[in-house]
Amino acid sequence: MALKGLILSGGKGTRLRPITHTSAKQLVPVANKPVLFYGIEAMAAAGIEEVGIIIAPETGDEIRAAAGDGSRFGVRITYIVQDEPAGLAHAVLTAEPFLGSDPFVMYLGDNLLQGGISDLVQAFERNEPEALILLTPVPDPEHYGVAELDGDRVVALAEKPPEPKTNLALVGVYLFSPRIHDAARAIEPSARGELEITDAIQHLVDAGARVEPHIVQGWWKDTGRLDDMLEANRLILDNLQTRVEGELVDSTVEGRVVIEPGARLERCTVRGPAIIGTGTRLVDAYVGPYTAIAEDCLVEQAEIEHSILLAGSQVRNLAGRMESSLLGRNVKISRDEGRQPRAYRFMVGDNSEIGIL
Ligand code: TTP
Repeated sequence: MALKGLILSGGKGTRLRPITHTSAKQLVPVANKPVLFYGIEAMAAAGIEEVGIIIAPETGDEIRAAAGDGSRFGVRITYIVQDEPAGLAHAVLTAEPFLGSDPFVMYLGDNLLQGGISDLVQAFERNEPEALILLTPVPDPEHYGVAELDGDRVVALAEKPPEPKTNLALVGVYLFSPRIHDAARAIEPSARGELEITDAIQHLVDAGARVEPHIVQGWWKDTGRLDDMLEANRLILDNLQTRVEGELVDSTVEGRVVIEPGARLERCTVRGPAIIGTGTRLVDAYVGPYTAIAEDCLVEQAEIEHSILLAGSQVRNLAGRMESSLLGRNVKISRDEGRQPRAYRFMVGDNSEIGIL
């Protein structure tokens, strides 16, 4: 019985507005690659061939267009529309026709897990528990699903408990036997109106099923908020291999830097780890550590550090250094010099945030 993959790429993404007003959060690039692709690649590397991706009606088409039939990752992708984001256990039930009676790995499409999932898949196949859940110690467990252990068994789970009994948070990767479907059917929506996966797993525990914990060794990131997205970008860029294929004119690059073919730097310094996408132009600019600039951007007379720029964005003539920022697609930020009256001029979408020196 082959293990399948299920990636959850629906949801509302409210915490990443305004980016998520027009685009799926799972497609926001980390080190110039959509978050979602890291999950698909992890599945392919673990030998999984059939991957189902849960999509929302609003952002599904964009995700289909980005990931396609999966052939370029070496997997076959089936898209599964979830009509409303009614919870992770609801997503599992929505995927039941695809999953059938096969065991599966569930991966939250906005999560990143260092080191992939091959070890977990092996542990799951060796021990054959009904569920294997990943845990990591966190300083603020009240914001997560939290597990209580007794030796190598999970004995209780709680979703965002006000008074957590442990600091072990659930990481967004789970392995399940097909028994999870009945468990998901047996539970009621939580106070926030969602069918919680923690409740479904608790249901398994209560029925005497073996639920195994696995403490994550490397880092894990949920990229659902801006700070986490920047942190994930930092962690991935830390492992960059230098590759300079673009054009450098009177420019220097230092440290681990990728300059994609078709990028052009004129009188610039790029200090890595940083990545500059195809078709992007940097002119009289400084790009500092932990910055990912996507395709077809323009940075001119400006300094940028620890930031993510999505495709087509432009930053020009800034008086101060821009840092810890996330710019969506085709954003333009510039300072007009010499124009009167001197004033700030904005055209900014709902829920945007701007900090001014
Ligand atoms: P969350 O980040 O918990 O939820 P969300 O995407 O609605 O975001 P926010 O809290 O900012 O509004 O979801 C984790 C992942 O699971 C994410 O990739 C979206 C996906 N998801 C679904 O596919 N279906 C669902 O019903 C839910 C709740 C989430």
